[in-house]
Amino acid sequence: MAKLKFIDLFAGLGGFHLALEKLGCECVFASEIQPELQSLYERNFGMKCSGDINEIDITKDIPDHDILCAGFPCQPFSQAGKQQGFDDQKRRGNLFYKIWEILECKKPEFVFLENVPNLKSHDNKNTYKVIYSTLSQLYDIQDDIISPHYFGIPQHRTRIYIVGRLKSKGGLVGFNFPEHTERPECNINDILVPDDSDYMSLRQITKGKFYQFNLSSCIRQQNSLTAQFVSFSLSNLANIFYPPPFLQ
Ligand SMILES: C[S@@+](CC[C@H](N)C(=O)[O-])C[C@H]1O[C@@H](n2cnc3c(N)ncnc32)[C@H](O)[C@@H]1O
Repeated sequence: MAKLKFIDLFAGLGGFHLALEKLGCECVFASEIQPELQSLYERNFGMKCSGDINEIDITKDIPDHDILCAGFPCQPFSQAGKQQGFDDQKRRGNLFYKIWEILECKKPEFVFLENVPNLKSHDNKNTYKVIYSTLSQLYDIQDDIISPHYFGIPQHRTRIYIVGRLKSKGGLVGFNFPEHTERPECNINDILVPDDSDYMSLRQITKGKFYQFNLSSCIRQQNSLTAQFVSFSLSNLANIFYPPPFLQ
């Protein structure tokens, strides 16, 4: 069977690439604006990324493909950002329209998008309404807000995933997002290497006795709170040296 071809827009570290390659698909184009990430991508996947997607000539530079993947920049929609959405001063919000331009021109059968969950509620839900109605001109769309820790993987990273298939190819008949529970058993000890001293450290703010006490007692108890607490700390607070008492 012919390999499905995909393009990896806003490629970053290549999360989509990794997943789709494992499923036997072939990447035919990637775009990432940051030079450091471009060279990491080349090292990891053996292919060069094109740069700024705004500079790409869609018909000339982007090959035909079956799947368009895009984890488009989320700062304009993130709760942590200024929430400027489509009016974002740095034009990041408008990158959704770049995706749409590519979809309209190339009409890949499938589209996979990823963003922060706040995309759905941003601007009284108007932002998502625009995205949904734009995509729905060609695609049957479903979305879900999921995180690796819902599936037993000890990382807290809630994201909205939007999946679409061309209506002209039958749409998303029979497709469902995987069932999940929001608080499964998920233990940080599953991924810790007990004698490893090369681990991430936390920012000053987390070095208080309260955090040290809770972190160490959580880990000793080996309960699911452990994973939630540690992954929360790592994703929100990590940065500086944290002494290692919690592994003793
Ligand atoms: C949310 S991250 C995507 C993460 C990616 N899905 C991964 O697996 O690592 C968005 C990425 O878009 C890149 N980006 C932002 N503006 C861009 C542009 N105009 N053209 C290409 N890439 C851009 C950023 O540098 C960033 O790496």
